[in-house]
Amino acid sequence: MRLASLSILSFFFFELQCGESARILGVFPLAGKSVNILYNRLMKGLADAGHDVTLISSYKNKLPIVNGSYTDVVLTGFTEDYEALLNRGHFLDAHEDYPISAVNDYFNYFLFIWNNTFKHPNVRKMLKTSQKFDIVLTEYFWNDCLEIFAHIYDCTVVMFTSMGGVNPWVNDRVGNYLQASSASHFFMLGDYSKGMTFIERIHNLAYYLYDYYHKYFVIIPGNNAILQHNFPNPPDVSTFYEKISIVLLGSHSSLRQPIPLAPNMVEIGGFHLDPPKKLPKDIQTILDGAKNGVIFFSMGSHVKSSDFSEEKRKIFLNVFMKLDQIVLWKFEDDNLPGKPDNVHIRKWLPQMDLLAQPNIRLFITHGGYGSLQETIYHGVPVLTIPCFADQYNNAYLAVQLGYALKLSYNDKNFNEDTLYSLIQELLNNPQYRENAKTRSRLFHDRPMKPLDTAIYWIEYAIRNKGAPHLRLSALDIPFYKLYNIDIYLFFILKLSYCEAQFVPVQNILAPLKFGNVVTIQNGTMWE
Ligand SMILES: *[C@@H]1O[C@H](CO)[C@@H](O)[C@H](O)[C@H]1NC(C)=O
Ligand SMILES: *[C@@H]1O[C@H](CO)[C@@H](O)[C@H](O)[C@H]1NC(C)=O
Ligand SMILES: *[C@@H]1O[C@H](CO)[C@@H](O)[C@H](O)[C@H]1NC(C)=O
Repeated sequence: MRLASLSILSFFFFELQCGESARILGVFPLAGKSVNILYNRLMKGLADAGHDVTLISSYKNKLPIVNGSYTDVVLTGFTEDYEALLNRGHFLDAHEDYPISAVNDYFNYFLFIWNNTFKHPNVRKMLKTSQKFDIVLTEYFWNDCLEIFAHIYDCTVVMFTSMGGVNPWVNDRVGNYLQASSASHFFMLGDYSKGMTFIERIHNLAYYLYDYYHKYFVIIPGNNAILQHNFPNPPDVSTFYEKISIVLLGSHSSLRQPIPLAPNMVEIGGFHLDPPKKLPKDIQTILDGAKNGVIFFSMGSHVKSSDFSEEKRKIFLNVFMKLDQIVLWKFEDDNLPGKPDNVHIRKWLPQMDLLAQPNIRLFITHGGYGSLQETIYHGVPVLTIPCFADQYNNAYLAVQLGYALKLSYNDKNFNEDTLYSLIQELLNNPQYRENAKTRSRLFHDRPMKPLDTAIYWIEYAIRNKGAPHLRLSALDIPFYKLYNIDIYLFFILKLSYCEAQFVPVQNILAPLKFGNVVTIQNGTMWE
């Protein structure tokens, strides 16, 4: 009897120790389909690990939850707004650069979304309950105001980013300042792996300086204005920097140029990828019948290939007609006039499962970061047709890493000859597939599965109530100190003074009290 109650007691004790479930709030209002796949998969992963998750997002969860709990706070109406934006369709008109006007357009659109998030009745309802949370997760898109949830629930923030490569805005949030001399800014399109010329470095530095201006004069005031509009006496968003404990990067070192990461930045790229499932029968039949292999063509969820210009559509069809391969095209209309026999269209295709098929010879894609991770997961070479936003950066990087070729949608050389020769080069030169396989090996070679890594660090931040010991002190230093501008100025002024007064230059150092200069005799140093 005594023994039994003891073991029941110890059972409860054990449960509390090991099975502690946390209350996790995800705030991911952006309605883009591809990013929501990531948010949804991350939150499901946390629920499956036994946590109680609540997700503020534009979609309802459809994944099976096997443990913990999953509550949706759906931002109804957001997907419709987003679709309307997409249908205005200027994505295909974007050109291969990042004009400042585009930055402002994006920012204003984002502000509109964050503002509407706070106004949304479902969010208002949630805020009125006495619910508590142990941690807040968000994705960073110039949305410091969303961290107000961590202020309201008095908890820490784990920040996620779905972008690959160098993300200067996320680096800024944790003081991971990179050298503008060697780390090319997100806005610098091209291959700078071998360094930048003088002019390129001027451009690069100008982008870093622009970010500084944009942060203090646009992002912070814009976010503060939203909070003031929606909450009584909100804190200044600058104080939220202290709330960030861990940054989860959706990238991976196998798919970007090497750069330093702060100790609280963790890579979890590929966490959303699950082992491939069986293909639908009709698709499997097409693949089985393709003697010369299959080319898979999909432009992702933002750009519809049914919106291609008449001219571009003809170019694709005429080139595909000349190929020995079968082409599987994610095409969003019922019919495609002039479609040759070797081309099959579907409104939707299981991308991840298709890329796993051994007779997929080539993937033609817009080059979203998620798609490139999927293709590298399976080691398939790529022709990227970037259209907008980070797709250009991703495409340059993929070419640089040797597993892809690139032809921008608005490239002036986009014609039948170029498209045909790029496809032939990718099909016939084995180096692209070899490089894709090499990257694939690196992508898989990790100490822990990326979803487990994400869960570990989120639980770490909960257990330790943040991670202030991982926070870089660079965050607290003003700009002029961070870059030693005051010291350079001091030297320049001193030098010009010495020059004018004919004072020996050594005297510049005198006031610094370095101590006496010791002449070291040969061989005495280590004695
Ligand atoms: C379910 O969650 C509990 C914590 O609440 C955890 O201990 C357990 O391992 C989880 N089960 C599975 C199958 O992950
Ligand atoms: C937020 O939305 C309200 C009403 O829709 C509007 O009046 C206000 O100007 C918006 N705030 C910002 C900072 O955009
Ligand atoms: C130091 O070593 C160099 C070469 O080894 C020699 O020429 C020189 O005389 C030495 N100086 C002293 C102070 O011993």
